[in-house]
Amino acid sequence: MAKIIAVTGATGAQGGGVVNIMKNVPGWKVRAITRNPSGAAAQKLAAEGLDVVQASFDDEASLVKAFEGVHAVFAVTNWWEILFTGHNQAEASQIETEQGMAIARAAAAQSTLEHYIWSTGTDTSTASGGKHPGVSHMDSKALVDEKIRKELPALAAKTTYMYMGYYPQNMFTYDCLKPTEFPPGSGTYVQIVPSTADAEVLMAGDLTHNPGLWVRQILAKGDITYGKYTRVALERWSFQKAIDVWSEVTGKKGVFVPCTVEKYTELFGIVGREIGVQFQFGQMADVWGIEEDKYLDAEKDLGISADEVIGFRGTMEKWKHTVA
Ligand SMILES: NC(=O)c1ccc[n+]([C@@H]2O[C@H](COP(=O)([O-])OP(=O)(O)OC[C@H]3O[C@@H](n4cnc5c(N)ncnc54)[C@H](OP(=O)(O)O)[C@@H]3O)[C@@H](O)[C@H]2O)c1
Repeated sequence: MAKIIAVTGATGAQGGGVVNIMKNVPGWKVRAITRNPSGAAAQKLAAEGLDVVQASFDDEASLVKAFEGVHAVFAVTNWWEILFTGHNQAEASQIETEQGMAIARAAAAQSTLEHYIWSTGTDTSTASGGKHPGVSHMDSKALVDEKIRKELPALAAKTTYMYMGYYPQNMFTYDCLKPTEFPPGSGTYVQIVPSTADAEVLMAGDLTHNPGLWVRQILAKGDITYGKYTRVALERWSFQKAIDVWSEVTGKKGVFVPCTVEKYTELFGIVGREIGVQFQFGQMADVWGIEEDKYLDAEKDLGISADEVIGFRGTMEKWKHTVA
């Protein structure tokens, strides 16, 4: 009988990418988790024949029920949605950590569970050697790692922690990170970023595909991945290289304009501030931590072939039609 993987966030970017790959892996069956099974994205999954099950991260009992009999869980939370629904940064972080722990406890309650995969973030204080004051949406996820190890040791023994790189699609989907034509009609697209142009970023590549490759291989490799970290990214690119390739692929002239966190906050409010402090952190530390040996190597350890991964350029090709 096929094993079941419950995929949280199945209607979104990361979970959607996991579903896209796992639905075609022999021996596995996907259970897609959503708050709203009658929503358009959930209906699309149901129309493909997938099991769609209702649960909310804010209702632990619903998660326990939704995870009944599962062998694996992919867990991802959405700090930004919490921020956009009327909470400040500190509240969003507290709620995200609570949600992360509710999902973890619900998974731990399943006697059938063999593998837990948690999409996490960097502990920015450790990674910057205490130099950076903190990035709310990263630290709140890292705190879940710590709490899983402390409060749920049996689950920790079956957990793989997954760091998701920077989404190249942010350059098409985030108003503040999207190159925008300026002056209007000039044919020149300006990208204002609270970072230096040469700061390097680990790129996740195509979200509709790559998260699923990592999950498929983590499950295939099983116990060698327990307790380990992996990064969904094979490319480390500067912001300058990113806009240069954006220009090549879209055929538009892109210009990178660095800006301070203060100016970015004036432009984009609380969202600008959060992205600003994140990129500031990225300039002062390896975004994903300094302990190189804690990571599984995607190619050597997980057997992910570079040919199978859709990188930054491939992602630009998929999204270029959206540039006005
Ligand atoms: N943008 C980047 O470059 C980047 C890079 C690394 C990490 N991240 C992190 O990625 C995370 C967001 O993931 P994503 O991009 O996949 O988000 P997304 O595309 O916005 O989708 C969010 C998913 O989470 C589900 N969800 C949200 N709140 C829920 C709740 N209370 N109960 C049940 N389901 C809930 C939604 O399901 P329903 O609406 O169907 O219920 C949806 O499927 C953020 O925490 C962010 O920090 C982003």
